[in-house]
Amino acid sequence: MNFDLTETQQMIQDTARAFAQKDVQPLARKVDREHYFPVELLPKMAELGLMGVYVPEQWGGTGLDVVSYSIVMEEVSAACATAGVIISANNSLVCDPILRMGTDEQREKWLRPLARGEKLGCFCLSEPGTGSDAANQATRAVRKGDDWVLNGTKNWITNGPFAQTALVFAMSDADKGVKGITAFLIDKDTPGYSIGAIEDKLGICGSGTCQIILEDCVVPNENVLAGENNGFKVAMSTLDGGRIGIASQAVGIGRAAFEAARDYSKERKAFGGPISQFQAIQFYLADMSTRLDAARLLTQRAAHAKDTGGNYGPLAARAKVFASEAANWIATKAIQVHGGNGFSREYEVERHFRDAKITEIYEGTSEIQRVVIARDVLRG
Ligand code: CAA
Repeated sequence: MNFDLTETQQMIQDTARAFAQKDVQPLARKVDREHYFPVELLPKMAELGLMGVYVPEQWGGTGLDVVSYSIVMEEVSAACATAGVIISANNSLVCDPILRMGTDEQREKWLRPLARGEKLGCFCLSEPGTGSDAANQATRAVRKGDDWVLNGTKNWITNGPFAQTALVFAMSDADKGVKGITAFLIDKDTPGYSIGAIEDKLGICGSGTCQIILEDCVVPNENVLAGENNGFKVAMSTLDGGRIGIASQAVGIGRAAFEAARDYSKERKAFGGPISQFQAIQFYLADMSTRLDAARLLTQRAAHAKDTGGNYGPLAARAKVFASEAANWIATKAIQVHGGNGFSREYEVERHFRDAKITEIYEGTSEIQRVVIARDVLRG
């Protein structure tokens, strides 16, 4: 067993860290305060190969592995969790399913520009009345000759206002329920496709989360991904991989909060010395670093399983539930270490605290992860 990063993984870590510190971190406050989608980062992410990290070079990607993707997500999210989710939605939720389940024609047309960062992708599964119960799709797709006509509203769409390519799920045969859902690739300029209001959120404030509205949106049959009525499997298998990205984002947020608390504890003086001399603070820091380490190990194990063809879904669920809960715990304690200053918006820990919360919710709540893990445990 070898826990060391390979030379290539080390290289992408250095590249992502340098980018995060030089380009991403300086924008983080503006992204948070002004709910600003950092458009200027997209060409830089593309140039560094961060938009299709584990897509083979043959399809316009960087040709690295999923562990490298996890490393990128941690580094970028430590600087700005919004920038992290922009990368993760494109990589895990759109590039990944086209790579795994698309035809060569679809890979050429849809995947290559996404992996090269020339286009941005969004994943449209949730609806106003459909979150955890993902099979309960109200959006309808009706076959008309060689086309499909889609009607419905999608909710919580990360990257929505800026994405050129949407992967949209719709009920194509309501009688078949979960086996009657189809996945469609849709260009934003398709008539009947429009962008709804942007959500006003607690955290990851710049990710441009919005509704996508489909009104008599006509999509050719060639845009169906993985065949008619196979959409639920596309969604679920995609989320298995996506959860590795969100676990990595949580590790990044947790690390940023931990490092802020550690540094502050060495500077802040009370009772005649730095507060880091007190065992109460030391124990917090010890527990933070232990949970962070465990979260990263679980996450990289899930990534490694995806790289090596293992059954990564249940491992990704474990990684996500643990890492997201660790990030929330760490961010709470980081505020405690900062005392009153932690409650002030002048310090960054309150942003980490707000950004951490969504990692327990999106791409499957902590409760859904436990459902997935329990099913795996009981199968055994
Ligand atoms: N991979 C492939 N196929 C899968 C699968 C997986 N991981 N999980 C289930 N399936 C298949 C099953 O095998 C089954 O097919 P067969 O009968 O042919 O075997 C079919 O799908 C139905 O499976 P279930 O009966 O298990 O389905 P269920 O209705 O009980 O749902 C669930 C299971 C785990 C609760 C699921 O609905 C789920 O994961 N819900 C959470 C959804 C979610 O994560 N939403 C996040 C929104 S996206 C987002 O947040 C993006 C963003 O913007 C960042």
